[in-house]
Amino acid sequence: MKFKKLLSAAAFGLFCLSGAASAAEDKDVTYVRMVGDILELHLKALEYVVSSDSEYRSNAALHAIALFDSSEMLDHAVKEGSAAADNWPWKDEKQYEAFVEDYLDASKRLIDVAAKWVQEKDDKKIRLAIDNVKRSCGNCHAGKTDWN
Ligand code: HEC
Repeated sequence: MKFKKLLSAAAFGLFCLSGAASAAEDKDVTYVRMVGDILELHLKALEYVVSSDSEYRSNAALHAIALFDSSEMLDHAVKEGSAAADNWPWKDEKQYEAFVEDYLDASKRLIDVAAKWVQEKDDKKIRLAIDNVKRSCGNCHAGKTDWN
């Protein structure tokens, strides 16, 4: 998979630079944070359509697809220097890749569950799938799961 390769390359750059605080002012930091905010907003919007009787409920699957697709933006976003100032929880490149993989699995599963939810409205299943995505965000974000 192309994006997996890119993610590895990006992670490697980040890994090499961890501790290089001077690189923290990377010009793309603002952009990276925007991408993070986009992820957060898709999660919020998804939770909104799931918990309300919204006319936009059929968008649930589209938010899930957007979350999955945005991981391809993350590969460019998590590039050298962008997160150097922060104390990230992954201990090496391998663990970082495992976190990425976990996020991809969780958001891919959410696509299936959300598409079914639009038809069958099984609230319990979609809430579990959403929580699982949040948990996978929490891998990289030091346990933070309250994206609300
Ligand atoms: C593979 C690791 C990884 C995963 C998974 C991940 N993120 Fe991030 N996220 C990052 C990095 C790295 C940044 C850049 C932070 C920086 O440089 O300040 C970031 C930035 C963000 C930001 C912006 C923070 C700020 O300071 O403005 C938000 C919000 C965010 N992510 C939310 C999420 C959400 C929600 C998910 C899950 C849907 C998620 N992230 C999944 C690594 C990850």
